[in-house]
Amino acid sequence: MAFFVTFEGPEGSGKTTQIQLLYQYLQNKGRQSREVICTREPGGTPIGEQIRAVLHDLGNTAMLPEAEVLLYSASRAQHVGEVVRPALERGAIVLSDRYAESTIAYQGYGRGLDRRALEMITEFATGGLRPDLIIYLDLDVQAGLRRKHRDQQEGRGEWTRMDQQDLAFHRRVRDGYLQMARQDPERWLVIDATQPIETIHTTIRERVEALHTSW
Ligand code: TMP
Repeated sequence: MAFFVTFEGPEGSGKTTQIQLLYQYLQNKGRQSREVICTREPGGTPIGEQIRAVLHDLGNTAMLPEAEVLLYSASRAQHVGEVVRPALERGAIVLSDRYAESTIAYQGYGRGLDRRALEMITEFATGGLRPDLIIYLDLDVQAGLRRKHRDQQEGRGEWTRMDQQDLAFHRRVRDGYLQMARQDPERWLVIDATQPIETIHTTIRERVEALHTSW
């Protein structure tokens, strides 16, 4: 059976490392018999990657929150239609580095946009497609931003327009994630991202195995 797992977290929480580890693990386990896809938002398609560049351009300081949410959602609509839904229909396991919960956290809790409007836009963009499991890597926002900044200076990862937002914004985003996770504990797996990489990977692997054991 197909399933859809998304990774969420504040900046510098180690999502990208963990999604890669899970991807490699699932690929080895499936030994080609099972399609596994690793993708991301914003991006994941040629059109989505162009939208990502606009969203993350440090020069786009004039971008309004309303334009921002529509651009993230445009990237998501393309991603769901072109990549995620067709893959799930083929029976694949789809792993995505961020998805709709980022919009509720960043544009909702962070920017303060109306929650109902965000839910309508998201429903329109995704056709109602929701993840089976949301893996949330939780980290103090200052520690995460420091980690991301260091990585970027050492040539890993990017420093984006969103990273430039003030600490209060990032704290609202993190509190928003924790609130969403508390409201839907079945779907969310909350992990302390300060733990060693291998410990986090094991926790994720065990939960994903429990999602579907017969493959
Ligand atoms: P990342 O690829 O380094 O996680 O960067 C993506 C950035 O975009 C991150 O700051 C979160 C932000 N974002 C939103 O604000 N809303 C969204 O809907 C998505 C998918 C990402």
